Amino acid sequence: MSWKPLYENSYVPYSSDKEACVVESKSGKYYAGVRIENISYPLTIPAVQAACAICLSEGEIPAKIYIQDSSSEQLDYWVGEFNLEIIETKDPPVEDLEDLYNASQENLDVLSRLKSLLDKAVAPNSDFPVSAILFTEDGYFEGVNVEVSAWTHGICAERVAISKAFVAGYTEFTRLEVHTRKGEISSPCGACRQVISELLPYHDIILHHSDGTQSEHLTLDLLPFSFKSSALKR
Ligand code: THU
Repeated sequence: MSWKPLYENSYVPYSSDKEACVVESKSGKYYAGVRIENISYPLTIPAVQAACAICLSEGEIPAKIYIQDSSSEQLDYWVGEFNLEIIETKDPPVEDLEDLYNASQENLDVLSRLKSLLDKAVAPNSDFPVSAILFTEDGYFEGVNVEVSAWTHGICAERVAISKAFVAGYTEFTRLEVHTRKGEISSPCGACRQVISELLPYHDIILHHSDGTQSEHLTLDLLPFSFKSSALKR
């Protein structure tokens, strides 16, 4: 497989600079990441962050990174954090994009799955696990929050699920469900609201609170009068 199909799955309406990479974990599993931009530029998820966070969210430790261009955003940070071996290559180490991520299709008791997913959260700084499940027409993608030594390079559960879905080529979603055990309420942070409002603007966000209740919201209501400007599209 060439890099092209992975690059094509990046979401880069503001730069047009497609970006992808593949991380190999210590146990030899592969995790891809693509760049997902946001109209609020600082909320952009670089491909390297996406791949490392997805790897960590699956309970694996990043060991090597396969990349076409070693000037990629955040590469230095993640290489330093996990002592990654950088492998600059013209072809990614996987045969088929399908081998990376598929939407899961098994029948789901959403709340019990969200509860068990919390165990996968990597939250050494906050001890505040969060889980999220993002639904597409075909299935779903799971995410947990991932924290690293630099607080600003960690990533919320919602955005890990979104990162996986983009790698797999999904850009259309149906709903997002979120759970925290420790928060009085489960509620996406402002940064996630911004990202969700761009990628799932009119969708249902279902929040499962720690007391067993749930509430349903439209993204539109979670972030009214949100930042938009056609001036930024390339
Ligand atoms: N967190 C999420 O994963 N999603 C949210 O919407 C709220 C915050 C995580 C990020 C960080 O790992 C921890 O909760 C504390 O902010």
